[in-house]
Amino acid sequence: MRLGSERITHKSAHRSVFDRAIILFSFVLILFASVLLISRIPILNPPSESKTSENLQNLFQKLPNFSSQLNPSLYHTNGTEVIYQIPSSPKAVLFVAHGCNLHAYDFWDKSSNCPHCTGLPEDRLFVLQALELNMAVITISSLGKCWSFQREMVNVQWIIQNWVKKNNIENLPKFAMGASSGGYFVSALATKMEFSSICIMIAEGVFKNIDIPKIYPPTLFVHMVKDRNRARAVLSNMEQLAEVGVEVKEIRCEEFPLDAGFLAKRIPGLDQGSADKLIEVFHEKGFLDEKGHLKKDGRAIKWKEALLKKKLIHEKFELFSHVNEEMNLAFAYHEFTSLNNDEIFEWFESHMKRN
Ligand SMILES: *[C@@H]1O[C@H](CO)[C@@H](O)[C@H](O)[C@H]1NC(C)=O
Ligand SMILES: *[C@@H]1O[C@H](CO)[C@@H](O)[C@H](O)[C@H]1NC(C)=O
Repeated sequence: MRLGSERITHKSAHRSVFDRAIILFSFVLILFASVLLISRIPILNPPSESKTSENLQNLFQKLPNFSSQLNPSLYHTNGTEVIYQIPSSPKAVLFVAHGCNLHAYDFWDKSSNCPHCTGLPEDRLFVLQALELNMAVITISSLGKCWSFQREMVNVQWIIQNWVKKNNIENLPKFAMGASSGGYFVSALATKMEFSSICIMIAEGVFKNIDIPKIYPPTLFVHMVKDRNRARAVLSNMEQLAEVGVEVKEIRCEEFPLDAGFLAKRIPGLDQGSADKLIEVFHEKGFLDEKGHLKKDGRAIKWKEALLKKKLIHEKFELFSHVNEEMNLAFAYHEFTSLNNDEIFEWFESHMKRN
């Protein structure tokens, strides 16, 4: 909502009613100021209803029945690795940017054509969902531990443009999603590349440091409420974007109790029996409260040591990062999430056209 060029004019009042006119004028002025003030508060979409533990429990019971399978292609270019998959009739292109210390190969399952892939549970589900919706997915590893902004933006832009051209998909709508460091990166990349819409996960973006261009893509923020500072920064950036007319929305993620069934369903290779034992030890060690909520972030709990002592896992336990990711997700402070895939992809699909 924008105010036009309305002006309040003050007709000179008759001397005898001067006081009353002053009062009236002040009243109008206050009214005008309030309208001005209210209209300056950006109109934001209300946050999606936070999921209660109950309907999260329902969510745990069923994973989407994907007909797509992860079967990526890999190549090296411009100092980094590119891993991608293009469905048979792609309708859009999605660039996904990982967080610090992660790589393109964490989004894809270990297989004969990608032996170094790790298939982190939330990340792989995100890619699967995209493929299911006929999106061509491209993941690129950052040059350093985290994404950088100068040379790397040019690099990634070049890689994506070269890739869409080579695969004859340059005319499809483009989306981008970035988590954490990848979220900051995507927020900046969107000033250089034309995306139809973007999603920034567990990051507020770099909007304080860039001039937001007139045409900036609709932006969805997915963040975890326990990270209060970030939630505040997200809100402030949403206001900044809305003020210049960019469509914004947020999804707030809440904590939920860690559950063996949840772990077993989302982590390929972790069977129900092992997940049960794991949760048992977590209770025994006091990592979980009486409601099953984690008391700390997965990164701050020495759970591997506890399981090693019990001889439940080997030193080379391959699913450490996988379990850790789900723990961080349940703790809801800072982690990649696929629990909101439906809403995220609905956001992309409802913003296919670049305006
Ligand atoms: C999943 O989908 C496949 C193929 O579309 C179907 O055969 C199978 O019955 C489905 N499974 C469930 C649990 O819905
Ligand atoms: C990426 O590599 C290609 C092939 O070597 C090269 O032509 C291109 O200029 C490089 N792009 C950037 C941004 O360095």
